[in-house]
Amino acid sequence: MRVVETINDIRAIVKSQRAAGKSIGFVPTMGCLHEGHISLARESIRENDFTIMSIFVNPTQFGVNEDFDKYPRRLEEDSRMAEEVGVDVIFAPSVKEMYPGSYKTFVNVEGITEVLCGKSRPGHFRGVTTVVSKLFNIVQPDKAYFGQKDAQQVLVIKKMVKDLDMNIDIITCPIVREHDGLAMSSRNVYLSGEERKAALVLSKSLFEAEKMILNGERDCKKILNYINEKIAAENRAQVDYISMVDVESLEEISEIQRNVLIALAVKIGGTRLIDNVIVEV
Ligand code: PAJ
Repeated sequence: MRVVETINDIRAIVKSQRAAGKSIGFVPTMGCLHEGHISLARESIRENDFTIMSIFVNPTQFGVNEDFDKYPRRLEEDSRMAEEVGVDVIFAPSVKEMYPGSYKTFVNVEGITEVLCGKSRPGHFRGVTTVVSKLFNIVQPDKAYFGQKDAQQVLVIKKMVKDLDMNIDIITCPIVREHDGLAMSSRNVYLSGEERKAALVLSKSLFEAEKMILNGERDCKKILNYINEKIAAENRAQVDYISMVDVESLEEISEIQRNVLIALAVKIGGTRLIDNVIVEV
């Protein structure tokens, strides 16, 4: 497996694979790989002849007071994991390679980026859609793989691809969880032992909310109150948002009549974690 750092090098590889008639799958990541990222790579390897993974901690999607500087970077370990699963190439550009000093262009999806995570992280999705557009232009994949873990992100990417007529299939892969239910995340490395235990309140409350709906509850207020109380009882947890929204428009709903996305962001100590479930009714 090769690790390349320049746009020219990855373009040359893509060109030769295309000339050989190979289909290309793409898995964009910020590294510090875990089984969630690897599940996307496995799916890409299964569905395509050649799989490219990018590892790039993208500065434009981090707010000024966020964790860009301390975000975990482990290229060597990541390369070993990616090679083991069968990724063909890692593209790991520098910030300068992606955003030279003269950089001036941004891509923005409106409407669905101002709610949920977009509300507490203004500019975040603009950074995501900008870097993903650039990566798509560089790699020109047939298919690109995203995790349901970032439910809003995958919707925003799908909307961008549709609106800008990008000829790429966006594939959504299920959330990979630890044995006790915690959604895997590169940010879980920030948690102390006690915080790690406290973080379980996210998935537990979501699963219980799901059960309430499957048992017939349709009043979102009651369900949201339940989740809020459950999280409030955990003193290390501080709620950013808990929302029940339409799975496509991300509009808040008050009474469940069709499939619903329950999404939340909660700070455990200093670490902001997200999780979600889609409940089909
Ligand atoms: P990152 O957080 O590294 O995640 C890369 C991909 O892995 C995303 O599509 C994310 O949804 C998926 N992923 C993360 N944890 C997962 C889990 N537990 N189960 C399933 N999939 C999981 O998301 C980003 O990077 C960036 O915003 C990026 C798209 C790379 C743009 O910079």
